[in-house]
Amino acid sequence: MKRARLSLLVSLALAIPGLLMVWDLLANAAWPMDLLAPSGELAVRLMVLAMLPGPLVELVGTNRFLKGWLPIRRNLGVAASGYGLLHLAFYVIDMTPAGIVSELGLPGIWTGWLALALLMVPASISFNTAVRWLGRRWKTLQRLVYPALLLALAHWLLLGWSSTPALVHVAPLVLVWAARAWKRHRIRKGAFTA
Ligand code: HEM
Repeated sequence: MKRARLSLLVSLALAIPGLLMVWDLLANAAWPMDLLAPSGELAVRLMVLAMLPGPLVELVGTNRFLKGWLPIRRNLGVAASGYGLLHLAFYVIDMTPAGIVSELGLPGIWTGWLALALLMVPASISFNTAVRWLGRRWKTLQRLVYPALLLALAHWLLLGWSSTPALVHVAPLVLVWAARAWKRHRIRKGAFTA
């Protein structure tokens, strides 16, 4: 399948849960506050899915599965920021302007705002022209997803009743990073003894 067509299909598929959430809201089947948890969780899930294939390739090399996963990383990242924005929209609909301002200083809330602000940078430069334009700086700016994920995690931990769901979501990434660090260390050691 052509890359552009695959990208379009993946983007459409990733938009379906969001469309269903908006549908539920418009049909009065859900309150905005009911949609905060699913939209926020999906944003984190998509961030993790966008960040996993890079270190996995370094760890195990490429295979058919990873070859299919790598090209849709950008779609996953853009969808993550889309769900972050949708999550914010549900919050804004649920609150009054005065309520939004009064909550800005709460650690559980400003971490969410900051996570979203950081996430918007890589999402807004995810098109091909920006990649060419920014050259090496593109990769540096993409790295903002790391502090964004950390802040989203802090936001979740500070607002959540239990830390388990948040930690379960990031566990695969932490495991893969740890395994990659161990592999790099082994390679370095091998290089020194050779
Ligand atoms: C734009 C600023 C943001 C605001 C104002 C905000 C606000 C909130 C609020 C009020 C809740 C509590 C929902 C509840 O009581 O069930 C919440 C939960 C959550 N938010 Fe945000 N959020 C923001 C950004 C983000 C971003 C960028 C992410 C992820 C990338 C995110 C992920 C989550 C998650 C995972 C939860 C927990 C859901 C659960 O309880 O299962 N939020 N957010």
